[in-house]
Amino acid sequence: MLLIKGIYKSFGGLTALKDVSFSVPKGNINALIGPNGAGKTTLMNIISGIYPPDRGEIIFLDKTISGLTPSKIAKIGISRTFQHVELFTNMTVLENVMVARYTKTKAGFLASGLKLPLAKKEERESQLKGLEILDYIGLSDRKDELASNLPIGEQRLLEIARALATEPKLLLLDEPAAGLNIRETKMLGETILRIRKEKGITILLVDHDMELVMKISDWITVLNFGEVISNGIASEVQNDPAVINAYLGVEDEADKGISIGS
Ligand SMILES: Nc1ncnc2c1ncn2[C@@H]1O[C@H](COP(=O)(O)OP(=O)(O)OP(=O)(O)O)[C@@H](O)[C@H]1O
Ligand SMILES: [Mg+2]
Repeated sequence: MLLIKGIYKSFGGLTALKDVSFSVPKGNINALIGPNGAGKTTLMNIISGIYPPDRGEIIFLDKTISGLTPSKIAKIGISRTFQHVELFTNMTVLENVMVARYTKTKAGFLASGLKLPLAKKEERESQLKGLEILDYIGLSDRKDELASNLPIGEQRLLEIARALATEPKLLLLDEPAAGLNIRETKMLGETILRIRKEKGITILLVDHDMELVMKISDWITVLNFGEVISNGIASEVQNDPAVINAYLGVEDEADKGISIGS
């Protein structure tokens, strides 16, 4: 479904990604892990069109998407969540999901503003769809709450609900478990598995919670200083000396929430 081919990206003198290649087959939950600053978010940003790569190509469903705008990439079926939650804090939970659905609706902002018939019909549809997604993700009892009033665990779920609103084929999750407690992380893992199983959505997951990653991922790619240093199933990656060294090289592991192996 997704092919990442020889991606390079530098910021000034800093090489954030160097010849990164891997693929994500349809229906998989693949993880991308690595110490802080390894380049994981940069790659998510390149896949979702926020930055163009300096070199290399991203192919999604046999089409080159690198160079397209984020909205075009969203329209063809890739949606994402952000490491630093990006919600409309002054809108309700339901409104956040409805706004996210905008790429799916046909009436423009002007028509919506004038409450023209098509826009009204679409607004009703967006509302119903929004309620359905909130119910699916377990947030329907919070629908009228301001997004800013939700605890971090529910804000992260709302980000996922927003990402689902565009009915993606591929979902990119950037540290969905950051700030979640053990119980919330376990439920998040179950939600991700359900999204794959029931909605058939392919997932690329970035997270530092190794228990979550090792439990739900079919395949793991490890980045360190912008380069792929390992690839494999959980047991292979956990026992790969290159991976262990990369994580041991991190100054203060506990601080960064990283623990490898079990
Ligand atoms: N817009 C930018 N401008 C300059 N440098 C950047 C930019 N974005 C990322 N970087 C740098 O690129 C490197 C990779 O950063 P990135 O955010 O991709 O890492 P990461 O693997 O997501 O780390 P973390 O686990 O801490 O989220 C870092 O050294 C970072 O400082
Ligand atoms: Mg990051």
